[in-house]
Amino acid sequence: MITLAIIKPDAVGAGKAGKILAQLESAGFKIRAARLVKLTTAQAEAFYAVHRERPFYRSLVAFMTSGPALAVALQRDDAVARLRDVIGATDPAEAKPGTVRKLYAESKERNAIHASDAPETAAREVAFFFPERELHELA
Ligand code: CMP
Repeated sequence: MITLAIIKPDAVGAGKAGKILAQLESAGFKIRAARLVKLTTAQAEAFYAVHRERPFYRSLVAFMTSGPALAVALQRDDAVARLRDVIGATDPAEAKPGTVRKLYAESKERNAIHASDAPETAAREVAFFFPERELHELA
């Protein structure tokens, strides 16, 4: 199964992308595709359209377009649920010790990493960044 992670502009800017990727690989995820992206406002609005009525939407879009982010398609068994375990709760104050967000997130918004929240969402979110031909087969 495949899922999408985005190492967000806060973590890329802080030089934590490599450490976070290493943690994901240690947790059994294989990289199928990766791309450093500077999202446009339109792209960030579309990616987070499900949140458009939320009070934090404009701020979230501004944050996600503030610098480069690393989009990564990741594979392992039960990838969606396992990635959410590894990254921890949205709010770093509530994230378990050792999770990516507990280690690297600054706040509920600047929370270091995004992960797809369900298998259907994962398929859509992977396709948002990567056409099928860019999803490399594993050796
Ligand atoms: P993410 O997993 O990318 O999904 C939606 C994002 O919105 C979330 O991580 C946070 O970056 C942000 N977010 C969610 N809830 C809040 C909140 N209450 N205040 C600010 N930002 C939030």
